[in-house]
Amino acid sequence: MSNIKKFRIKSFKNKSILKLEKVSLKYGRNSILDNLSLSLNQGQILGLLGPNGVGKTTIFNLITGLISPDFGSIMINSKVVNEYPIYQRTLKFKIGFVPQHGGYFHDLTVYENLKAIAEITIENASYRNEKIDSLISKFELDPIRDIKAKFLSGGQKKKLVIAISLISEPKILLLDEPFAALDVMTIKTLQEIIVNLQTLNNISVILCDHQARDLLACVDTAAIIHNGKVVAEGTPTSLIQNIEAKNAYFGESFKIS
Ligand SMILES: Nc1ncnc2c1ncn2[C@@H]1O[C@H](COP(=O)(O)OP(=O)(O)OP(=O)(O)O)[C@@H](O)[C@H]1O
Ligand SMILES: [Mg+2]
Repeated sequence: MSNIKKFRIKSFKNKSILKLEKVSLKYGRNSILDNLSLSLNQGQILGLLGPNGVGKTTIFNLITGLISPDFGSIMINSKVVNEYPIYQRTLKFKIGFVPQHGGYFHDLTVYENLKAIAEITIENASYRNEKIDSLISKFELDPIRDIKAKFLSGGQKKKLVIAISLISEPKILLLDEPFAALDVMTIKTLQEIIVNLQTLNNISVILCDHQARDLLACVDTAAIIHNGKVVAEGTPTSLIQNIEAKNAYFGESFKIS
């Protein structure tokens, strides 16, 4: 963990870039989110933790515009975006999303996947090629660049989807379980990539993952979601000692080092 922390900037701006305000959502009779509020500041890396089915992916879907809340506001740069369709949120507010599953074209190669998205988002052909090459090198995709995505391993697919999400140079990046199915070294590489995105590109990030230690190693703050609400939030060291966080998620014996 200390290796990752070495790269960290000490503080993010105290300016909110994304806010969920008193958001509630039901599926049928099931209340999923209940008056949930959450804020992401510019340049912050925020982790979401919570058990299976608590609503983490739902929160990402609300931010990207895939679903709408029953009540409450989604705000980006202080603007309520509830009525904005997905493509406008992506283009106007530069939201990048790495979904929990999928996120690539099965029958295209790694290179073709990157090219397909780059052709939509980058007009200048030479910059487009530069961008693709730099992502291929950053994520060490060169040995597999001509392999169809459906044949990649779980971890290789994950890297590809993250690379795809960075083509459009997002300002806010949402990562739904980025560490799932990755080996130890790849997780470390990805943690460094996330922290570098924050440090070098001032990207704000929300990620959720069940690898709590890996998540806490690279976030500024994390929030525990329980019963449709944020029940605890804070820096990793403060959070693991928080009684609500222990009760709702960590249990008694959880340690981060
Ligand atoms: N379209 C839908 N119709 C009905 N229920 C849904 C729908 N989408 C999600 N849900 C329910 O909403 C709840 C939250 O789901 P969500 O996928 O957000 O959980 P999660 O926290 O991401 O879980 P995991 O850690 O397993 O990925 C779950 O109980 C799920 O069954
Ligand atoms: Mg999920």
